[in-house]
Amino acid sequence: MKANTLYPRQKRPAGRGEEDSLTGRLSHLLIGQDDAIAKVVPYIQMHQANLSPEGRPLGVFLLLGPTGTGKTRTVEALAEVLHGSAKNLLRIDCGEFQMEHEVAKLIGAPPGYLGHRETQPMLTQTKLNAVITEHSAISLVLFDEIEKAAPSLTRLLLGILDKATVRLGDNTTVSFEKSLIFLTSNLGAKAIQRASKPDFGFEAMVPPGTDDPQRLQAVGMSAVKHKFSPEFVNRIDSVITYRPLNADAYDEILDHIFAAFGRLIFERLGLRAFRIQCTAAARTLILQRGTSLEFGARELKRTVQRHFMQPVAALVAQGRIPPGSTIVLDTRGGDFNLLLRH
Ligand SMILES: Nc1ncnc2c1ncn2[C@@H]1O[C@H](COP(=O)(O)OP(=O)(O)O)[C@@H](O)[C@H]1O
Ligand SMILES: [Mg+2]
Repeated sequence: MKANTLYPRQKRPAGRGEEDSLTGRLSHLLIGQDDAIAKVVPYIQMHQANLSPEGRPLGVFLLLGPTGTGKTRTVEALAEVLHGSAKNLLRIDCGEFQMEHEVAKLIGAPPGYLGHRETQPMLTQTKLNAVITEHSAISLVLFDEIEKAAPSLTRLLLGILDKATVRLGDNTTVSFEKSLIFLTSNLGAKAIQRASKPDFGFEAMVPPGTDDPQRLQAVGMSAVKHKFSPEFVNRIDSVITYRPLNADAYDEILDHIFAAFGRLIFERLGLRAFRIQCTAAARTLILQRGTSLEFGARELKRTVQRHFMQPVAALVAQGRIPPGSTIVLDTRGGDFNLLLRH
């Protein structure tokens, strides 16, 4: 079934009428993290029903768990579904705000202070409004890797989470009342990995049944309570723990990676475009090499990049792929092998 699949390929047919629902559409973009989708969707529906409480963000979520399991992807998937593009989100990389003085980059320095005027703050109302579309008034705000943030950023966040506003250096305010706010952290990731035993690799030796969402949640929460103050934890609507991806999820994500590469070739190369294909053997080898407890789907992406995208790119650069032909990823002698079919 998975053998010799051509990319880009047709969208799969809609199943049981769920294709149009928010949940259905999200679950095609975010694989194997149904719990995350189930926790976020009700907050969107509250907004759509015009029943969200006032004076606070539409929803505040803390996303926890190992690297490469879809935390950032969740917010991108929401942007795609709500606004039509994964780029429609305001992302603040907290790693850039590790020092107390750097927080001024976010809200701007007050008048009279060094850097007032030169620095355009990152968190302005204009920037927030720039990520919404005519499709939805919801702005998606992502504070990535909050465990890296300086304490003053955590204090600033506390205000945003509590009152849905922040006052900038120039005394104007920014409103987050129409925002879904996502905080991601790798806090407790190791413990979550240990507590959930995915069904592949060495971990498969462990008896099944230990992958209990409530247990994962408890593990995540205890890490959060250890690091953040109770008032901070209190302002979070929902803590979502991401489980390590299982073999089925890897398999489906691999489909996405190939399909995206296929689309890229067609979009970028125009008349010089060609098709890509992958044999069952090559697929198995990618999954073997790209399945990683430590790096999640990132390792899968890297594996495809190294063994397929980059060799294909080299051939393109040398003008060695005739337009309309098909490049097949296959194996030979236990390693990857590219074939050209006319
Ligand atoms: N659950 C998932 N569903 C679909 N793609 C995923 C998933 N998890 C990871 N990926 C892929 O791996 C990449 C890295 O995932 P990301 O969401 O950035 O990880 P993190 O959990 O570290 O934020 C994404 O861009 C996406 O291509
Ligand atoms: Mg991330």
